[in-house]
Amino acid sequence: MADSLDLTYGDATQSLAVTDGTIRAADLKKIQTPDGPLATYDPGLLNTASVRSAITYIDGDAGILEYRGYPIEQLAEKSTFLEVAYLLMHGELPNKTELENWNYQINRHRLVHENVKQIIQAFRYDAHPMAKLMAAVASMMTFYPSARRVEDPDARMRNVHRLLGKMPTMAAFAFRHGLGRHYIYPNDELGYAENFLAMLFQAQQPKYVADPRLVRALEVLFILHADHEQNCSTNAVRAVASAGNDVYTSCGAGIGALFGPLHGGANEAVLKMLREIGSLDRVPEFIEGVKNGKARLMGFGHRVYKNYDPRATIIKKAVDDVFAVRGMNPLLHIAVELERIALDNEYFTSRRLYTNVDFYSGVIYEALRFPPEMFTVLFAVPRTAGWVAQYEEHMGDTEQKITRPKQIYTGYAKRDYVPVDER
Ligand SMILES: CC(C)(COP(=O)(O)OP(=O)(O)OC[C@H]1O[C@@H](n2cnc3c(N)ncnc32)[C@H](O)[C@@H]1OP(=O)(O)O)[C@@H](O)C(=O)NCCC(=O)NCCS
Repeated sequence: MADSLDLTYGDATQSLAVTDGTIRAADLKKIQTPDGPLATYDPGLLNTASVRSAITYIDGDAGILEYRGYPIEQLAEKSTFLEVAYLLMHGELPNKTELENWNYQINRHRLVHENVKQIIQAFRYDAHPMAKLMAAVASMMTFYPSARRVEDPDARMRNVHRLLGKMPTMAAFAFRHGLGRHYIYPNDELGYAENFLAMLFQAQQPKYVADPRLVRALEVLFILHADHEQNCSTNAVRAVASAGNDVYTSCGAGIGALFGPLHGGANEAVLKMLREIGSLDRVPEFIEGVKNGKARLMGFGHRVYKNYDPRATIIKKAVDDVFAVRGMNPLLHIAVELERIALDNEYFTSRRLYTNVDFYSGVIYEALRFPPEMFTVLFAVPRTAGWVAQYEEHMGDTEQKITRPKQIYTGYAKRDYVPVDER
């Protein structure tokens, strides 16, 4: 629905078209101010739409998350991660042949060039796996120069297959490098998540067999993390892509953004918090501390979701499966008690603070035997499906231009250079 907004500044009134609840920021330039054409100032882009996207829909107030119109609850229950990746990329669920072909294209690209191993091996033993993953992904453009032909849709898609196929391999190598273990190559007999678990955890046994409940729990976690519209890392991917970059360089930037504790690192913080609380009897005291501003209840609250985070509800179901296999973790008791008290407490309800996706994902990852520094890597692997879909959408969007925000200059007015011995 198109509408208009009359904006008066000084003596002049301009009528600005309102489309989809937005005005075009460029239309504001019609209005002259003493400082130049009118613009918006929006640090963090909190109220600025930078793309038109048909991939992911979120309604934070209603707790709705949909990929291409399909509710996350249905996808998490019925779909597989690779099927969801297809959906994100192509806009429709695949038929049987399309799915088989997609799975084949991705799985046949799981091996990495041997030099990628050396790139990972060149890191110190204690290097963070996200740094190793970022370097490995960025390096891939040099192994597959066709990725630089960004105007060629076939070349783009081939490199999307490669990246989706190789992400788990590079993530597993980064993990095993930290443990000083030999790297495990992909196994063609295993599906995406199961093969990932094998590459991570296989020891001396000739064949790694993962409990199907753990495989499914990981698939569900992957589906939940696959996309989340224009978050910080997706915005980074699109911004780098806007300069004409290939999918590897763009997703390398996405990994960098995701590495930040404000973005991908919250579940690690939840685990730290649970350890600090230590026992059930200390939960009420911790909650009091949160209410008095001494601490934050990590895994609670969300910038977008103000009623509940639909992903948190789904994750809770996965928790039961993982703990049925791995045995109860005492930290889970603390988490459940924290959630029970907080959801019934005026401080949290009045601020619309509810459990978010990170509250239980860290506990699950720990039960799956991952060290905390791997948690963000476990986010990056599935989020790649979202990044490549958003990258592809960006490449087909004729309205897009190189990302280049404005600034409000606050520095000195022009002044003359002073030689060093006169300063
Ligand atoms: C996610 C988060 C950054 C969203 O922040 P936001 O939308 O900017 O909300 P604000 O920081 O403005 O918080 C609004 C109010 O709720 C309080 N609040 C928000 N999250 C809180 C939390 N987790 N624990 C305690 N209080 C919290 C703030 O102190 C503020 O209270 P005030 O109005 O009395 O000052 C924030 O909720 C948070 O830090 N959560 C914990 C970290 C986390 O789990 N992150 C993962 C998100 S997926």
